[in-house]
Amino acid sequence: MKIILIVAKAKNQVIGKDNQLIWKLSADLKRFKNLTTGNFILMGRKTFESLGKPLPNRTHLIITRNPDFQAPEGHYAFLSLEDAVIFCNKLGVDKLFIIGGGEIYREALPLCDQLEITEVDAEPEGDTFFPKIDSDQWKEVGREEFPSDEKNEYPYAFVTYEKI
Ligand SMILES: NC(=O)c1ccc[n+]([C@@H]2O[C@H](COP(=O)([O-])OP(=O)(O)OC[C@H]3O[C@@H](n4cnc5c(N)ncnc54)[C@H](OP(=O)(O)O)[C@@H]3O)[C@@H](O)[C@H]2O)c1
Repeated sequence: MKIILIVAKAKNQVIGKDNQLIWKLSADLKRFKNLTTGNFILMGRKTFESLGKPLPNRTHLIITRNPDFQAPEGHYAFLSLEDAVIFCNKLGVDKLFIIGGGEIYREALPLCDQLEITEVDAEPEGDTFFPKIDSDQWKEVGREEFPSDEKNEYPYAFVTYEKI
């Protein structure tokens, strides 16, 4: 199984504030949808709450320390990241997407094979951060850069890293 982390992060590593996203980037949402649709997506309980309801056509794996947490029908809750990964391996899942937030990214980064990063050319205030990408462990293998426009409030780049 390939484990792929997907995130949009600012130049100062900020990824969120008050359990919300902090920019309007329609191209990033579109890319997220294209990459993750039809797949299993793993997230922390706080990110799941921030979605409001499950995203269509994706199986949600929610990580929580609360044994009473009930995932919506067709989705699953786990008490650890490792339990979720074991579950996916048993099911023969092809690709697992790690979709945040800060806590889960930090814990999942060592397990990932590929990173799909949207670099947002901004330095917003925030309370949630993405860890530094260690260039001894990760190699940039793709980059596409775009200017801001009416649907994307900052310039941005789609950057792919693979584990060395
Ligand atoms: N820019 C992006 O691409 C992006 C993507 C996703 C999210 N975000 C942002 O990130 C922020 C949320 O991130 P966050 O760091 O606050 O929270 P989070 O990582 O989404 O969720 C944290 C929760 O996950 C559970 N958890 C974490 N580690 C665990 C472990 N080892 N075992 C069991 N449960 C574990 C705990 O849930 P319980 O408290 O229930 O035990 C913990 O409170 C929001 O602002 C969101 O908008 C940004």
